[in-house]
This record gives sequence, structure tokens and C-alpha cells, in this order.
Amino acid sequence: MKTVFIDCSPKKRLSASGFVAAMTGLFVFGSKKMMKLRTKADYDNILKELEDADAVVFTMPLYVDGVPSHVLPFLKKMETWCKNLNPEINVYVIANNGFIEGRQNEPLMQIMENFCIRCGIKWCGGLGIGGGVMMNVMRIMIVVIFALAILNLLLTGIRTGNFLDNGILTNLLKDVAEALFFGCGIITFDIWIATCINRRKEYGKHYTRIMLPSFLFILGADMFFTVVSIIKGGIFRGWFSKKKPDEGGYKEYEKVV
Ligand SMILES: Cc1cc2nc3c(=O)[nH]c(=O)nc-3n(C[C@H](O)[C@H](O)[C@H](O)COP(=O)(O)O)c2cc1C
Repeated sequence: MKTVFIDCSPKKRLSASGFVAAMTGLFVFGSKKMMKLRTKADYDNILKELEDADAVVFTMPLYVDGVPSHVLPFLKKMETWCKNLNPEINVYVIANNGFIEGRQNEPLMQIMENFCIRCGIKWCGGLGIGGGVMMNVMRIMIVVIFALAILNLLLTGIRTGNFLDNGILTNLLKDVAEALFFGCGIITFDIWIATCINRRKEYGKHYTRIMLPSFLFILGADMFFTVVSIIKGGIFRGWFSKKKPDEGGYKEYEKVV
């Protein structure tokens, strides 16, 4: 059995869609192919991989309550491809969104279901994940927890001669378990969809979220985006830019009228 995962996030690195594709891949048996859908140049490679595939898993972010616009031309091309080749392929979708409620992905699921009906391929359902950005926070937290524990083990080892301090190892396990707790809904639903992919069964539509109370999520997301904006220059680029944000758009508008 061959499963093709299509990560539809336009991000080159650190996308939640890429992360969830890799995680689902851990639980799916048989041959697996991870593809990235960012530009037109990716279309042919993906369609080639789909020729002998039994299942395709689209992992994608929710954009403006729907499918990201750069994915739509690919879906159009795939529709023609399906009508020509009549493939027997099961389609699953794993969508993630910025707001905490996974149910926000419902319109996206309906779009993908309608797409499958038009193509004559089998819609097997999808998983919608709320607070997708926290998946990145979770994986960064796990890396930091491991890095700090290794540093701690080394320093304690140099000081005492014992490089496997039980206290540090127990704390490491506790911290990892706490980080995983926030993702327990996502992990459970993800294993479930992977089981359906393996058995070629329908999954239906299910929604989950990161296990954080909403007020804490908003605080965490604000902090995360502030740090990301500072690192990537977004905040300061905006503050010190001579050009006003709507200037370009207004000039284009003037040209038209
Ligand atoms: C242009 C754009 C539109 C978005 N629209 C929505 C939306 O309608 N609802 C929502 O909950 N999140 C929205 N988001 C947030 C993304 O769904 C969220 O950041 C997601 O985790 C990104 O996934 P990725 O890392 O796989 O690209 C939007 C993000 C962008 C950039």
C-alpha cells in the first residue's frame, strides 16, 4: 500500500502541516511519500506520485475559512487528471488553524469533500486541529527540554562523576509528559486517522484542539508571535518602514479608476 502525504503549507520550514504529516507518517504502514505543494513546479511531481497511490493525505492550514489559494489551481489540475485516469484513491485531509477551535475547519472539509465528488475519487474524511500554531511551540519546547536536560546531565556529571543523575532524568520525563499532554487530543485523533488509512476505511470528520484553556492559549500565541515577529524582523520592519501599508494598494486603485 502506498500513501502520499501532501504538505500544502506555503511555509518552507516549521509548518504545522509538515509536522502533522510527519507525525501521521509514523503510524501509517507501507510505502510513504512526503510531498510539498508550494508552487506550480510541484504539481507534476505530485501527480506522478499519485499514479500508483492507494491513499492521499492533504495536510493544510486553514486560510480565510477555506483552502489556501495556492492549493486551488493544483486541485483544478488534479480534477482533470482524475477525469483522464480514473484513479482508485482514498482521500484524507488533516487541516490545522490559528484559532483554538478545530471546528473552524468545517468549511475546508466541505470544500475538499466536494472536490472529491467532482473528481470521482473517494472522500474518506478529515481531522481539523485548532490552535495549530501550538504544535510548533510543543515541538520547540520538547527540543529545549531535551537540550537543557543534556546540559544539566553534563554539568552534573563533570561535577560529581555521575553522568546519569536519576533526578534529572525523572524531571526530563515529567517535562516531556507535560508537553505531550497539551497535544494528547491531536496525537489520539492522529493515530485514529492513521489506523483508518492503514485499513482503507472511512474516518468521518473529527475536530480536536490543543489542550489549553482558551485564555492561556491567547496569551501563549501572543507571546509566540511577538517573538517570531522580532526574530523575523516583522515588528520593526513595519514600525520603521517609510512606506505606509496601504500606499501601494491605493496607487494601484488610482491606476484602475
Ligand atoms: C492568509 C492567512 C489566513 C488565515 N486564515 C485563518 C482563518 O480563517 N482561521 C483560522 O483559524 N486561522 C487562520 N490562519 C492561521 C493559520 O491557519 C495557522 O497559522 C496555521 O497553523 C498555519 O499552518 P501551517 O504552519 O501548516 O502553515 C490564517 C493564516 C494566514 C497566513
